[in-house]
Amino acid sequence: MTKCITVTNQKGGVGKTALSVHIAQFAAKAMGMKTLLVDLDGQQNSSFAATGKSSFEHTVIELWDGEAEIPAGISTRFDFDLLPGPAAPDATGIDEEETRSRESGKSSSPAKVALSRLLTTEYDLIVFDTPPAPGPRQIAPLGLGGLLLAPIEPDIAAFQGITTLYKLYQRVAAGTDLQLKLVINKRILNSANQTQVIQALRGSVIGKYMMMEELTSRVLVQNAMREGKAIWDVDRKDPLSAILAQVCKKCVEGLKVEEGQPPEQQPEHQRTQVGGLLVDLNEEV
Ligand SMILES: Nc1ncnc2c1ncn2[C@@H]1O[C@H](COP(=O)(O)OP(=O)(O)OP(=O)(O)O)[C@@H](O)[C@H]1O
Ligand SMILES: [Mg+2]
Repeated sequence: MTKCITVTNQKGGVGKTALSVHIAQFAAKAMGMKTLLVDLDGQQNSSFAATGKSSFEHTVIELWDGEAEIPAGISTRFDFDLLPGPAAPDATGIDEEETRSRESGKSSSPAKVALSRLLTTEYDLIVFDTPPAPGPRQIAPLGLGGLLLAPIEPDIAAFQGITTLYKLYQRVAAGTDLQLKLVINKRILNSANQTQVIQALRGSVIGKYMMMEELTSRVLVQNAMREGKAIWDVDRKDPLSAILAQVCKKCVEGLKVEEGQPPEQQPEHQRTQVGGLLVDLNEEV
């Protein structure tokens, strides 16, 4: 059965693309899973990182045409396949189609219908890299269940973004097996500001979803992405290599919930309580 990981956060530049690429590579190489990275971002950053190319014959947009064949994943510089991101005008088209569909009173989301087609493919794992702007390309993949992974850059703006994301998670998770994990990225160890923000986040309602590991800010990440390699293949001895691999492992292994087993979801009474505590989180800001 195909499992999904959606890497998202409405904030830009927090590491969605870097994490998507590393998770896909870890799953494919270390865990031997047939893995597809789906780039949903019109910036096409993960498509470029994975292939070194900036134009593609076939892109994810073809999924929106239900009559057309499902586009095949292409080989990359990594061990996973890629469904390249939409060209910028196509990305806008997807968002407009969603709005039109909603305004005409249709209950189904064209983006969700399009992405659901991927569940019929032979891939064990699909990793979605999403754009920073809120919209159907961030929300639709969550409807396929699995894991929502949000990288958080620990600055004061993180609170607002995470509050919005958490509300979205609660809305979408109902009725699916969607799990939530948050991971600190771009940690600067001697930053007192960051330490304060992280402490506040860990003490809040979203604290229980935060991974223990924290990913430090290292130029290695930018260099590796430019070279089209995972950081552990560029500098295995860098401490971040081991930590990032551990994060990837936990994300992929966390998906292996046996069928028929209840997924990690809060019962209704806890949800209400969570909603109440969320207000406290807002008040701290
Ligand atoms: N831990 C890190 N240390 C240093 N640089 C990092 C780290 N994680 C990501 N970066 C770099 O920060 C920049 C933004 O990261 P990335 O593109 O992954 O973010 P994003 O959330 O996908 O951005 P966007 O919202 O534009 O899609 C890139 O240059 C990336 O290489
Ligand atoms: Mg990105």
